[in-house]
Amino acid sequence: MSRIAYVDGRYVPHRHAQVHIEDRGYQFADGVYEVILLLGGRPIDADLHLARLARSLGALRIAAPVGQAALLHIIDQLVRRNRLRDGLVYLQVSRGVARRDHAFPKGDVKPVLVLTARRIPPFPASLDGWTATAITAPDERWARCDIKSISLLPNILARQAAREAGATEAILYTPDGMVTEGAATNIWIVDRDGVLRTHPLDHAILPGCTRAALLRLLESSNIAHQERAFSLDELRSAREVLLSSATSYVKPILAVDGVAVGEGRVGPVAQLLFDLFAAHVRETAAVDTKL
Ligand SMILES: Cc1ncc(COP(=O)(O)O)c(C=O)c1O
Repeated sequence: MSRIAYVDGRYVPHRHAQVHIEDRGYQFADGVYEVILLLGGRPIDADLHLARLARSLGALRIAAPVGQAALLHIIDQLVRRNRLRDGLVYLQVSRGVARRDHAFPKGDVKPVLVLTARRIPPFPASLDGWTATAITAPDERWARCDIKSISLLPNILARQAAREAGATEAILYTPDGMVTEGAATNIWIVDRDGVLRTHPLDHAILPGCTRAALLRLLESSNIAHQERAFSLDELRSAREVLLSSATSYVKPILAVDGVAVGEGRVGPVAQLLFDLFAAHVRETAAVDTKL
């Protein structure tokens, strides 16, 4: 069965899906995106993703191409047409197609909505084999990392540096030695005093939906945690380091820059967060399937 994409109002075979060469997303990276996990054919944390999309669009003054109910309908159609169960949906909105000029186009330029979907391996049954390693790298991004912009060059370069070093992720730090987040993940530590911490929400990090879902779960389970930034030194002396993202879920980082984190094994907090998140996604998939 061939893959189907959604491009600007139409469902089209993936291999024929195209945007215009003067799409501002293509020319200026003038657009925003979301990556949404699908389990059992259902989008996970869709409320968080749609809220973040609205926020990113608003920050860049790009009009929403369709309402939220219509967007959920398109996602559902795409999942059905691709016969997906476990997978991900990529959703992108650019400012639209216009003659090349840096300033916003004048007049009634319509934003362009594109969605693709693909299969990914099923949610891992356990943390056996679901672990990562990381390097550290300077955070060379702009001052509005809270917007989920499609302009990702520094993230790409950092992730490539990680790959070339044989690691999974690059953990980014500012010139004053504070950790912000990963190239495409949020980062958590259990510090040397046993406190679970992640960077607070501000312009320096992306407000990850998995991060938000985990914080909700931690709060409802009464598990102590802090949204407080940590330094590279604190990262290096942490008992546990973890990453979170829609497609990596919760993943323990067992080594940073080639040095083992703690004892170099999956720690109890990573296990706890993974179990909480696994229960959350199973519940979402199961509840929605009954609808
Ligand atoms: C820079 C960055 N931080 C964090 C995340 C994690 O966000 P989410 O949990 O919504 O996938 C991503 C996801 O792509 C990202 O690109």
